[in-house]
Amino acid sequence: MTAINWAALNAAAKAASEQAYAPYSQFPVGVAVQAENGEIYAGCNVENASYGGTVCAERNAIAAAVVAGERKFVALLVYTPQSKLTPPCGICRQVIAEFFMPDAPIASSNHLGQQQSWSLQQLLPDAFTPTYLAASAKISKDS
Ligand code: THU
Repeated sequence: MTAINWAALNAAAKAASEQAYAPYSQFPVGVAVQAENGEIYAGCNVENASYGGTVCAERNAIAAAVVAGERKFVALLVYTPQSKLTPPCGICRQVIAEFFMPDAPIASSNHLGQQQSWSLQQLLPDAFTPTYLAASAKISKDS
């Protein structure tokens, strides 16, 4: 099993939060993900004048990793300079569930050095994952 490099995840997520484009919310977020091979990728939130065009840091970090060829991840860390630790939003939980095992740690840290961790399963129980589509494709092929 790959060891999780929390120090590197924290450093990458914090650096990413400093690049956040968050002029509307003033709520900068940085996220780092660790791929199964140990590589770390980061993303920040990128807001838009048409507010619905905003993309969260989690999805941008995962997209950066996917374009580098990664498909499997072992940990994710969200960094926000907030005294209340920030968990991923609902849409991001669904995107995380596409690429992480249910027992993968999803953590949050802040500028005070506090850190909290959940499993993906805790954040999104009974997630809709690609396995459901595979089952449906198999049934329609067989019937
Ligand atoms: N945001 C994230 O990037 N990730 C989260 O986990 C929570 C919310 C962003 C979206 C928006 O730019 C700002 O934070 C306020 O919602």
